[in-house]
Amino acid sequence: MSQSYYVPGRQRAAKVNELFAGIARRYDLLNDLQSLRLHRRWKRRLIQLAGPRPGRRALDVCCGTGDLALALARGGAETVGLDFSEAMLEVAAARSQGSEGIRFVRGDAQRLPFGDNSFDIVTVGYGLRNLASWEAGLGEMQRVARPGGRLAVLDFGKPDNPLWRGLYFGYLRRLVPLLGGVFGGSASAYAYIHESLAHYPAQQVLAVRMRQLGLAKVGVMNLLGGVMAIHCAEKE
Ligand SMILES: C[S@@+](CC[C@H](N)C(=O)[O-])C[C@H]1O[C@@H](n2cnc3c(N)ncnc32)[C@H](O)[C@@H]1O
Repeated sequence: MSQSYYVPGRQRAAKVNELFAGIARRYDLLNDLQSLRLHRRWKRRLIQLAGPRPGRRALDVCCGTGDLALALARGGAETVGLDFSEAMLEVAAARSQGSEGIRFVRGDAQRLPFGDNSFDIVTVGYGLRNLASWEAGLGEMQRVARPGGRLAVLDFGKPDNPLWRGLYFGYLRRLVPLLGGVFGGSASAYAYIHESLAHYPAQQVLAVRMRQLGLAKVGVMNLLGGVMAIHCAEKE
């Protein structure tokens, strides 16, 4: 593995941007391979919880190639997908050709270019973990949500069971970079998942932060024994 994509502090954004620019074209294929397509099921679950409908405005932060944003728009919500990677947004734009009620915006998740109380639904999938400050990203999601609006976060989790956690971390550390090297052209880009997860809090800390932000009805759904987690909450 030639380089590490995890760097703390100010250089974080540039390094993460470089990482996604390099893997954008193969990102969807690798997601399917690494999760055995389970990420599709987890994303459907998040969308059900978010509840897109005609008449609702939705924002998907760190939208990447647009899976969640497209699903929100298919549910009838007027949807914006935001990401800072031009390469990922290009793929999202190509995938959304012919879809209605969706647009993509280039921007920083830690400084969303929207006013307070703008959206009924704000989602993020596998995004907060990549930010220099996940707390800042969550705070921005809360700020742009309308009172009564829903926030939903999907990301890697940390299983409570030590045996399961060991197996899963071993998978992330060894097999995921191997798959990334063979099919995605970069083992180090995929080693980043394990590195970034090491610096991201487990399920409970994110839930605590949501409550500290004044969010209500905070719920945590563990998927596959805590390998993944969906956090849901409502802005009061
Ligand atoms: C792992 S991908 C997730 C993509 C998509 N949400 C999904 O679930 O498949 C993370 C995305 O976050 C984006 N990202 C990372 N830091 C960001 C930031 N500060 N502002 C906006 N987007 C960011 C990356 O460009 C990348 O597209």
